[in-house]
Amino acid sequence: MKKYLVIGNPIDHSLSPKLHNYWFKENNIKAIYEKKQVEETEIEGIIADIRNGKIEGINVTVPFKKSVIPFLDKVDIPDKIQSVNTIYLEKNNITGSNKIAGCNTDILGFKYSLENIKYNIKGKKIFILGAGGVTPSIIYSLEEMGPSIIMLSNRTKEKAENLKRLFPQLELVKWGDIKNFDMIINTTSLGLKENDNLPINYDQIGSGKFFYDVIYNPKKTNFLLEAEKRGHQIENGKMMFVYQAQEAFRLFTIAPNVRMGLIPSINKKVLQLLEND
Ligand code: ATR
Repeated sequence: MKKYLVIGNPIDHSLSPKLHNYWFKENNIKAIYEKKQVEETEIEGIIADIRNGKIEGINVTVPFKKSVIPFLDKVDIPDKIQSVNTIYLEKNNITGSNKIAGCNTDILGFKYSLENIKYNIKGKKIFILGAGGVTPSIIYSLEEMGPSIIMLSNRTKEKAENLKRLFPQLELVKWGDIKNFDMIINTTSLGLKENDNLPINYDQIGSGKFFYDVIYNPKKTNFLLEAEKRGHQIENGKMMFVYQAQEAFRLFTIAPNVRMGLIPSINKKVLQLLEND
């Protein structure tokens, strides 16, 4: 039986096992996908288990997306995104040399989540809140889609400034100030708890905006509830999560006879699976 893992700390909340196990079954693959809470010191050993065949593939979540990088043979990520969420063995059947490869599927996951609802970023004014682990992937993804401006605001100014060094086009905004935007994205962890509130005066924002929250549990954070009340379009992070997992599954299932890997289904049943928690 092939074994896959998602590692992080904490990891209890992860819905990746549900999704991947469903897809393995659907594709008649004899594999099991588990979650494992790990400490930083265990990472090297776990990645080595890919080389010695004990583990086939790994997804990585907070806070290890950066710290796994030194243990990989190759990374297939843009230079400025020091973030890997999918690790697998890249087999070379000609030379026979196998490499432990790392990839970032959050970038594609975010893009597909917008394509799924036909939201076009081109020419739009984007306002990002937060400068955490997932934020660079979102900025990178957005930049490829041609917005007119990306503004960013973070409570800790230094973290916003670090991002501006990587993405010089960013326009930094003081935490608590809200500029005119078409789309606002919450990438902070504010909203995970019921009483979490972002410093936004919702009544001062015009109409017809798009509010996107990377959080998907709870389904509607206060940020999304306040926006919905005022008739704005809203979207949570669920589809981004599902699409990043779909791309990870594809990478996991690349084989000599399946060169592009398998693209598992995203349908009502799959989405329902994630509702039952
Ligand atoms: P990550 O591991 O992804 O970096 P994190 O450090 O928990 O996650 O924080 C993610 C984001 O949520 C950061 O932008 C963080 O702001 P700071 O850089 O100022 O820490 C933001 N965040 C978390 N709690 C917050 C709070 N109470 N008020 C404002 N921002 C908060």
